[in-house]
Amino acid sequence: MITVERKHPTFFAEVKGVDISKPLSPELFAEILTAFHDNAVLVFRDQPLTHQQHIDFSTNFGPLFEVTNYHRKEKERALPSKLTDISNIDHTGAIQSGDNHQRHFNLGNRIWHTDNTFKHVPARCSLLYATEVPSSGGETEFADMRAAYDALPQDRKDEIEELVVEHSIVYSRQRAGYDDYTDGARTELQPAQQVLVRYHPAGRKALYLASHAARVIGWPEAEGRVLLDELTEFATQVKFTYAHRWRAHDLMIWDNRCTMHRSRPYPDTTERRVMQRTTVSDEINSVERRAAEAA
Ligand SMILES: [Fe+2]
Repeated sequence: MITVERKHPTFFAEVKGVDISKPLSPELFAEILTAFHDNAVLVFRDQPLTHQQHIDFSTNFGPLFEVTNYHRKEKERALPSKLTDISNIDHTGAIQSGDNHQRHFNLGNRIWHTDNTFKHVPARCSLLYATEVPSSGGETEFADMRAAYDALPQDRKDEIEELVVEHSIVYSRQRAGYDDYTDGARTELQPAQQVLVRYHPAGRKALYLASHAARVIGWPEAEGRVLLDELTEFATQVKFTYAHRWRAHDLMIWDNRCTMHRSRPYPDTTERRVMQRTTVSDEINSVERRAAEAA
């Protein structure tokens, strides 16, 4: 039996009473899944995990994305193919220099986003594990997009209910000043279309936004941009957010279908922050899912 301690009025809980390095019984995983659906963001603390144990726990939630290194020019840290490197160290184990490509690309994580909305089949959830943390800063901040949706005025809900948005990582990285892709990456990184209001299988609607959200389909460019910015500003008010101060051996899982997140600054050219992320794939594109549910 796990213990679930809610840490914020609308979302985020700490789960205690389970060792996630070990295989889970179906009953135990069902308890964790219920906590995940209720809280959208969970932390499991004091969990020393190997890379493989991190991957094995993640696989309970669904199939994992393989990592694509289309943006990196330097040799990267050697990791299993299902782990995305969210650290500031290079392949030698030293802190990345200020002009490192991966560092520049990862600066884009400082803008509010949802993982992998730029892919046709986006991410269901992400599981980020901390091996080393800086002495200050480097929090991951989350926004509850269910609570934000609920708080919208009805006329705004009606206005956006059926909208579809184009998401592109080329667009979001451009906003962070990054435009230096490897050969062929631009062709591979075609934009994807996603609904703006997601119906979460646990029974609530949520705003589905990200830094990757580039334009509203069928709307003039500027009007779509303004709408997306307004909604993002609304959804990231302090009352909808929680900033997690990391400890080594924290494992966090968040639901990309109903939260946004961003990383916060830290002294990243002098202090180490070593983290790895698995990303669980959703089953289907969100626009296709809505069409299938309406049929
Ligand atoms: Fe992210």
